[in-house]
Amino acid sequence: MKNQGIVELYQPRHTLIGRDGITMIPHFLERLSADRVLVVTDKGLMKTGIAGKVTAVLDEAKINYVIYDGVEPNPSVRIVNEAFAFYKEQSCGAVIAIGGGSPIDVAKAVSILSANGGKIQDYNGVNKSKKHGAPIIAVNTTAGTGSECTRAYVVTDEEAKSKMLMVDTNCLSHLALNDPMLMVGMPPSLTAATGIDALTHAIEAYICNTHTPYTDALALESIRLISGSLREAVRDGSNMDARTDMCWAEYMAGLAFSNAGLGLVHGIAHQLGGYYNIPHGLANAIMLPRVLEFNRPYCMGRLAEIAQAMDEKVDHLSVDAASKVAIEAVRRLIKDVKIPPLCETKFDMKDIDIIAENALKDTATATNAVRPTLEDVKIIIAKTYYEGVLMKKVNENG
Ligand SMILES: [Fe+2]
Repeated sequence: MKNQGIVELYQPRHTLIGRDGITMIPHFLERLSADRVLVVTDKGLMKTGIAGKVTAVLDEAKINYVIYDGVEPNPSVRIVNEAFAFYKEQSCGAVIAIGGGSPIDVAKAVSILSANGGKIQDYNGVNKSKKHGAPIIAVNTTAGTGSECTRAYVVTDEEAKSKMLMVDTNCLSHLALNDPMLMVGMPPSLTAATGIDALTHAIEAYICNTHTPYTDALALESIRLISGSLREAVRDGSNMDARTDMCWAEYMAGLAFSNAGLGLVHGIAHQLGGYYNIPHGLANAIMLPRVLEFNRPYCMGRLAEIAQAMDEKVDHLSVDAASKVAIEAVRRLIKDVKIPPLCETKFDMKDIDIIAENALKDTATATNAVRPTLEDVKIIIAKTYYEGVLMKKVNENG
């Protein structure tokens, strides 16, 4: 372990993980001096009744709240401004986010704007705000993004057609809540994509150039849990053991990357989201294997340990061979949970230059195991794309 000097660790103020955890929300709200609370969610979660499970708890406890349900995937500056305008208009003093990464990210943006003013673009980068934002209760409904426990949030700048990654300790949640009962109805495709997002967080945190003993422990256990439970959570969404494992895994992976860093998978995925609105988890799942192959020469020992965490039998193998087994195990998991190839998304090869250029500049790429060149990034994207085209042809021809 190389000496990194003093390391600061980040985490939410409080955390709840477990079945029916949402019933504890009023207890945490009591300790906040908010006369009215803004609930931030999306129309899908309102329609499926998942947001209603949380608001029923608020109704029961006679909490004064208003709802903003206009959040969309890959939330934009426009949505942040709309939610913040509503927060001010309704004189709210705290935010309850219900959802996956998108509603929680919007809640973080609203929280930062409420205490610091200005526009959200002012906070693009690391620790750009001065004051801690309004308290956030982050109720996670997917087991993927880790947004409930991280100091990061992402907002799409529609004009620049790219994603802004804000890393800010002032947006850490007052309460991070993972209740597996809210995840039971999640469709298999979303369970798969968000689960591989969590796996990517853990792997990138483990092999990045700023990992620590603390983040290593979180990442490896998260990889072990995902490897053991994601297939079952996708196959049978009502399996509470699998769902609970995924709650723990995604939370630990979130803490791991929030305290260590990410890498090139996220650097590219952020652009695929910003440019084509490809869901974040899906973009990561598609890019993960080829980026790992690129990184492999620089982190073979770490990949060999990942193979062990995924319960691969690698004791008799060289580190070189074991690192290849890890990547094959990741590929198998991605295939088993039915992630579609890049060529079946809105990605267009004609945009490869701009996607690669922005991926190289992305904050996540800065902590990748090795610094890639523009050519490296283009080759990774092209290989991923044409590999998918080839696989599709093979499948079509039986
Ligand atoms: Fe992610």
